Amino acid sequence: MSLFNLSYNNLNELPDGQEAYIFGIFSDFGITKKFKEDHPKLSKKLDLAIENGEFEAKLNQVMVMYTPDCDTAKRYIAIGLGDSGKYTADYLRQASATAAKKCIDLKLSSFAIEFMGEDNLTIDDAQALAEGLVMGSYRFLNYKKQADDAFAGFQSVIATADADITNALGYGMSISGGVVLARDLGNHPSNVATPTYLADTAEAIAEKGGMKITIYEREDFEKLGFGGIGGVAQGSDVPPKFIIMEYMGGDSSAKTLGLVGKGLTFDSGGISIKPSAGMDEMKFDMLGGAAVLGIMSVVADIKPNLNIIAVVPSTENMNGGEAYKPGDILTAYNGKTIEILNTDAEGRLILADGLSYITDKYELDGVVDFATLTGAVVVALGHRYSGIMTNDQDFADQLLDVGEKTQDRVWQMPMDDEYAEDIKSTIADVKNTGAGRTAGTIAAGAFLREFVKEGTSWCHVDIAGSGWLKKGRPYLPDGPSGAGVRMIMELIRSWEK
Ligand code: BES
Ligand code: ZN
Ligand code: ZN
Repeated sequence: MSLFNLSYNNLNELPDGQEAYIFGIFSDFGITKKFKEDHPKLSKKLDLAIENGEFEAKLNQVMVMYTPDCDTAKRYIAIGLGDSGKYTADYLRQASATAAKKCIDLKLSSFAIEFMGEDNLTIDDAQALAEGLVMGSYRFLNYKKQADDAFAGFQSVIATADADITNALGYGMSISGGVVLARDLGNHPSNVATPTYLADTAEAIAEKGGMKITIYEREDFEKLGFGGIGGVAQGSDVPPKFIIMEYMGGDSSAKTLGLVGKGLTFDSGGISIKPSAGMDEMKFDMLGGAAVLGIMSVVADIKPNLNIIAVVPSTENMNGGEAYKPGDILTAYNGKTIEILNTDAEGRLILADGLSYITDKYELDGVVDFATLTGAVVVALGHRYSGIMTNDQDFADQLLDVGEKTQDRVWQMPMDDEYAEDIKSTIADVKNTGAGRTAGTIAAGAFLREFVKEGTSWCHVDIAGSGWLKKGRPYLPDGPSGAGVRMIMELIRSWEK
C-alpha cells in the first residue's frame, strides 16, 4: 500500500524549490562538518539559534527557519534528535513522525528530508524514517464531511541519502501501510466495521496476495463445533464470520506461522452488561483481528518466503433475545466444555474456537494470538507494552526480541501450570472467569492455553492497553495504534532467513 510517493535522491541532485528541507540535529554535537559543507549559509543561522539557546535539539524539538538566501527550499525545518549516545532507529522513527506532523500543520504536500549525522543512513534507519513519516502523518478523516482542514495530505517526499535506500524505504512504507489498515479498521465505528466488513477486507487482501480464503457463517458453526463463537454470536443479529486465510508463500523448507486475532466488532458485555461510560471504546474490541489483517496486507504486498495461516473469529457481543447467559455451558471446537460466569469475558470464547481450530488443522511452527482481552492488562502495563504469555519460552523470547527491536513492545507475564486452578469449573471443564479480581490477564491466558493443541508453540498477546491510546506519542496517534503489526513483520523477516 503506497500512501504517498516516497523516493530517495542524492543531496546534490535534489531539485530546487522544495517546500521544505528537513534535517535532524543531535543535541550533543551540534552541526556536523558535513552539514556545514553541504549547507554553509544555513549553518550560520543554525549556529546563531543554538548559541542563543533557542534550539537545543532535544528529541522531537522543532524549529522552522526561513532563509531566502538559501535556494534549495522555501523553508528549513530542524528536528531535534536528542543525545547521540542514546540514538536508536526509534529516535529517527519519532523524529520523522514529528517532521511529518509539522508539515501537516504547515500544509506542505511535498518536501525533502535528511537526517544528519556524520554517517549516512543505515538500512534500518531508512526503514524507520519511512515508518515515522507514514505513521506520524496518520489521520482518520473518513467521517469529517465538513472538513475544517482542507489539507489533502502529502504527495511526494524525497529522502536524501548517499546510498540507494529505495528498498528500505519501500519496506518501511509497506509495513506502515499495514499499521494504517489496522488503525483504520479500529477507527471505523461498529455499524461500519462489522464482521462482514472484516471478511470483505480479508477477501481483498487474499486476492491481492494470492491467498486461499474460507469464511464460515453462523449456519456452519454448529456442524463445525464452534460453540464458543456460536454462543457469543447468539445475542446479535449482525452476521458473525469465522475468517481463515492461507498464505503458502514458502518453499519446501519454509516455516509456517499461525496468527489468530480477536475480531469482536462491538463488546457491550452482553447480559453481564458494561457500564455506559466509555462503552463506545468497545468498537476497538476487534483490534486483534485488525492487527492480523494488517499483517496479512503487508504479506500480500511483500510476499515473504514462508507460510502463514490467519484466523479471525468475528462477531458482536450483544444482548438480543437469544443472547447467551451466565450459567450457560458452551462446547468449544476441541470438545472442552466452558461454564459461562460472565458474558463479558467473551473474547476468550471466540479465541478458544480460533486457537483449537488452527492448531488442529495445521502443522504450525508457532502460533500467536492478538486480543484486546482484559482490562487487567491496562492496569498492569498501561498503554505502552502488550502483555505476553506463552507455553514455550523460546518462542516468547523471539517475540520479546523483535518487540524490542521494532519498539512494538511486549512484556511477559508468568503463567505457571498452577494458574490453571483459577479457571477450574465445578460443573464444566473450565470457566470463563479467573480468581475474582486477581491476575485477570493471566487467568485469560491460562484459559486460552486449554485450547492450544499439545505440542504447538504459542504466544498470547493481550493488546487491550497497547492497541489503542488515550494520549498519542510522535508516531502513535490517539486511538488505535496498530500494535502487533511491526513486531510480527520483524518475526517474519527473522523466520525467512
Ligand atoms: N474487551 C474486553 C477487555 C477490554 C477492556 C479491552 C478494556 C479494552 C479495554 C473484554 O472482553 C472484557 O470485557 N474482559 C473482562 C473480563 C472479565 C469479565 C473476566 C474484563 O477485563 O473486565
Ligand atoms: Zn467483554
Ligand atoms: Zn471484549
